[in-house]
Amino acid sequence: MVTLATPADTFEFGRRLAGLLRPGDLLVLAGPLGAGKTALAQGIGAGLGVPGRVVSPTFVIARVQSGGRIPLVHVDAYRLGSLAEVDDLDLDVDLADSVTVVEWGAGLVEQLAEARLRIEISRQPDSETREVRLVPEGGDWAERLAALPLS
Ligand SMILES: Nc1ncnc2c1ncn2[C@@H]1O[C@H](COP(=O)(O)OP(=O)(O)OP(=O)(O)O)[C@@H](O)[C@H]1O
Ligand SMILES: [Mg+2]
Repeated sequence: MVTLATPADTFEFGRRLAGLLRPGDLLVLAGPLGAGKTALAQGIGAGLGVPGRVVSPTFVIARVQSGGRIPLVHVDAYRLGSLAEVDDLDLDVDLADSVTVVEWGAGLVEQLAEARLRIEISRQPDSETREVRLVPEGGDWAERLAALPLS
């Protein structure tokens, strides 16, 4: 469990996490409204070297951010009802070549990859502090997480 006291800490955590990422990775972000999923994705984008700011994909559902070390596919699945709809987004990119980060994707997008990292963000009422739990799901995620400098 990692404690993130401020939005800047969440951004920085995403930036460091990006160092572990490889093409084909799938990250499933779980957590309530305002948990900081987009903030984390913005940090990941920065860590991948995506130029400019990763904006929230809420109104576009999905956005491909290229120009960094690996293309970042940032999806907000809040309004998606099924995996088929994710496929239907017809993203002009091969997920095998990209890092895919999906907000609200738990229970929906797991089948997009054989392995995935589940990131659970929780918050307390009236507090900026966020707690993050990284759950390796298959592949070599457990080993890769062991290499992540957490502080
Ligand atoms: N420690 C923290 N980490 C991240 N965000 C924080 C933190 N403390 C406060 N915040 C605030 O919480 C909000 C997080 O917003 P963000 O859009 O990243 O959440 P989200 O999980 O993507 O929400 P949504 O479910 O609507 O997509 C921002 O307004 C941010 O400033
Ligand atoms: Mg969001």
